[in-house]
Amino acid sequence: MPMPAPSVPEVPATAQPPMSIKLQGVTKRYGSNLILDNISLDVPPGETVALIGPSGGGKSTLLRCLNCLNTFETGQIHVGPHVLQPDSSGEIPGPVRQQVRRLLGMIFQDFQLFPHLTALQNVIEAPINVLKKAPDEARERGLKLLERVGLAARAHAFPHQLSGGQKQRVAIARALAMEPRGLLCDEITSALDPELKGEVLDVLEDLKREGMTLLMVTHEIGFARRAADRVVVLAGGKIVENGPPSQVIDAPQTERTRTFLSRVLG
Ligand SMILES: Nc1ncnc2c1ncn2[C@@H]1O[C@H](COP(=O)(O)OP(=O)(O)OP(=O)(O)O)[C@@H](O)[C@H]1O
Ligand SMILES: [Mg+2]
Repeated sequence: MPMPAPSVPEVPATAQPPMSIKLQGVTKRYGSNLILDNISLDVPPGETVALIGPSGGGKSTLLRCLNCLNTFETGQIHVGPHVLQPDSSGEIPGPVRQQVRRLLGMIFQDFQLFPHLTALQNVIEAPINVLKKAPDEARERGLKLLERVGLAARAHAFPHQLSGGQKQRVAIARALAMEPRGLLCDEITSALDPELKGEVLDVLEDLKREGMTLLMVTHEIGFARRAADRVVVLAGGKIVENGPPSQVIDAPQTERTRTFLSRVLG
């Protein structure tokens, strides 16, 4: 009997190969507070990096700099072929900002879905308005993406009719609809019950298997141990540890990481 063909996801998350993300000497201040202190970090294509660390350590700020939601003062950020560097007015030039946002999807703890649009409408809004896709094509792909995150049956539900885990999966489908080559996730399971967390983390593990470059801020140490290629600890605006989960989580080198992990792990 012939061997069954390996199952191939119908809608690959990445139409193109994944890309690398690199920060070189990035410094960011708010007023006189140094929030990111000379951060250098490499995320090779297809790698999953879990960013952990104490509250206020700069994790969200770092992700926001990558997606041009924040500016920074010094250093450079490479996203695939693009280089982010503030110009003389301290801004990232608009065209680069747009290109980088196309390559990097970002998902937040509070979903940020449009409340007046159904799940499907949320997913297809940007492909139609930004990518200028034909509505029928966007709809067809949107339905496939919702199917992919296990929500085909809820395509026409509004956000208030969905559970937290379902809303977060719609947010993932919406990010994927823009055909990103990397995803930034900022504590996307923090507001969810344990079972719903599992649903969302399963989708991320799937994306990782497909080769998506993932940089995720998470307090899910179990997930980081299982799914991350690398764990980076950010505290007080500095990277205090960076290595495989077996090293950073199971044999941390710094007192700062040990204290943080003992608090999170209870
Ligand atoms: N818009 C802002 N203006 C001034 N300070 C800010 C602003 N945004 C963040 N900060 C400060 O920057 C520091 C880092 O904040 P950030 O949100 O990056 O931390 P975090 O590591 O994501 O923390 P948490 O785990 O609580 O989400 C904090 O001291 C915060 O108060
Ligand atoms: Mg944060």
